[in-house]
Amino acid sequence: MARKNLIVGNWKMNSNHLEAIQMLQKLHYRLDPNDYDRVDVGVAPPFTSLRSVQTVIEADHMSIQLAAQNTHFEEKGAFTGEVAPSMLAKLSVHFVIVGHSERRQIFGETDDWVNRKAKAVFAHGMTPIVCVGETLEEREAGSAFDRVGSQIRLSLTGLSAEQIGSAVVAYEPIWAIGTGRTADPADAQEMIEFIRAQLSQQWGGTADDTRILYGGSVNPGNIGAIMAKKDIDGGLVGGASLDPDTFASVVRYWI
Ligand code: PGA
Repeated sequence: MARKNLIVGNWKMNSNHLEAIQMLQKLHYRLDPNDYDRVDVGVAPPFTSLRSVQTVIEADHMSIQLAAQNTHFEEKGAFTGEVAPSMLAKLSVHFVIVGHSERRQIFGETDDWVNRKAKAVFAHGMTPIVCVGETLEEREAGSAFDRVGSQIRLSLTGLSAEQIGSAVVAYEPIWAIGTGRTADPADAQEMIEFIRAQLSQQWGGTADDTRILYGGSVNPGNIGAIMAKKDIDGGLVGGASLDPDTFASVVRYWI
């Protein structure tokens, strides 16, 4: 099965619900209906904007797919400040980012938590975008492949082959996130090829269907070279997704 490209804007902790609606509408107007034949496009606003963005997407029949930036893995209960996967599913959320390096580093999320989150996302009919990536120290020490290999194993353990085929993985080297320092496309391809090999070793041929994205200072100037690599199926875009003009140029990477 041919993998369809996917570019998701991760708005992080930016935009209130009114700003989010404006960003969504501007993006929609800057994209051509034919663009969606080549690439699936998603946006991940903060939780407080999900309902507003969902309403506009549905009312205007937009092809942009809704993503959440995080979820808890429990169904409900005494977890102050958390959001359950069923709540996201009810908002027609399509993708849920799990294990973003900011969650892992700032909020102490472990591979075990990321794994439980990925399973909970699937259990509610949504698709996880599972993030992995090494630190600068790990890259310089030559242990990047060990680190990412272990994140892949531990974060995805217990998923079925079918789930692996429909999951999205984002390779985001931590040293490239928000730093303006992009991984060399050849290095990104090498790691993403490694990830795909790990997946097929464990889950078989279905790993050919898994979409694997690159993330880390993606912008209109580097997206073309990144997308030209054979194992890279798209991008998870932070800073460059906040301006609709810039993000539209990233989405239309072939122009
Ligand atoms: P960046 O963020 O594009 O601002 O580097 C990417 C991400 O954190 O997903």
